[in-house]
Amino acid sequence: MFTFAPTEGQSKAELHADLMEAARALTHDEPDAVANMANLAALLWQFLPDLNWAGFYRMVGDELVLGPFIGKPACIRIPLGRGVCGTAASTGETQLVPDVHAFPGHIACDAASRSELVVPVIRDGAVIAVIDLDSPSPARFDADDAHGVEMLAAEIASRI
Ligand code: SME
Repeated sequence: MFTFAPTEGQSKAELHADLMEAARALTHDEPDAVANMANLAALLWQFLPDLNWAGFYRMVGDELVLGPFIGKPACIRIPLGRGVCGTAASTGETQLVPDVHAFPGHIACDAASRSELVVPVIRDGAVIAVIDLDSPSPARFDADDAHGVEMLAAEIASRI
């Protein structure tokens, strides 16, 4: 049994540091991409408060396809350049969206979502997946969250 869990009263920096440590410990020795994405989705959900969706979309051919996640059932295929995820995948850049209703083309998988953070996972210079986090709170994510999840994406890029 794994007992990775956040501690009461931790700062955001501490949460991201502990999330990273747990992610490294769970995946460093495991080559199976599905198992690793499933555990990483669970860790993101466990360590980062106030989420309603956390998980992966993978680049398959020329589109994003749903991967392991926690949350409500979501749209399965997202064309490059569409929505927040498709924009992150096509630009290779993190999308920090304080108000999803103000993002042109946002794809509403869960009507409860108000803000979103999408971080591309880049391996050998190519986007291989995105990590998608949704929150029911407006402006839930800030630059510290973006930085933390970018570090996580870089850490796990070779194991998903
Ligand atoms: N909102 C995303 C779609 C994925 S769901 O949030 C899980 C988007 O606009 O790309």
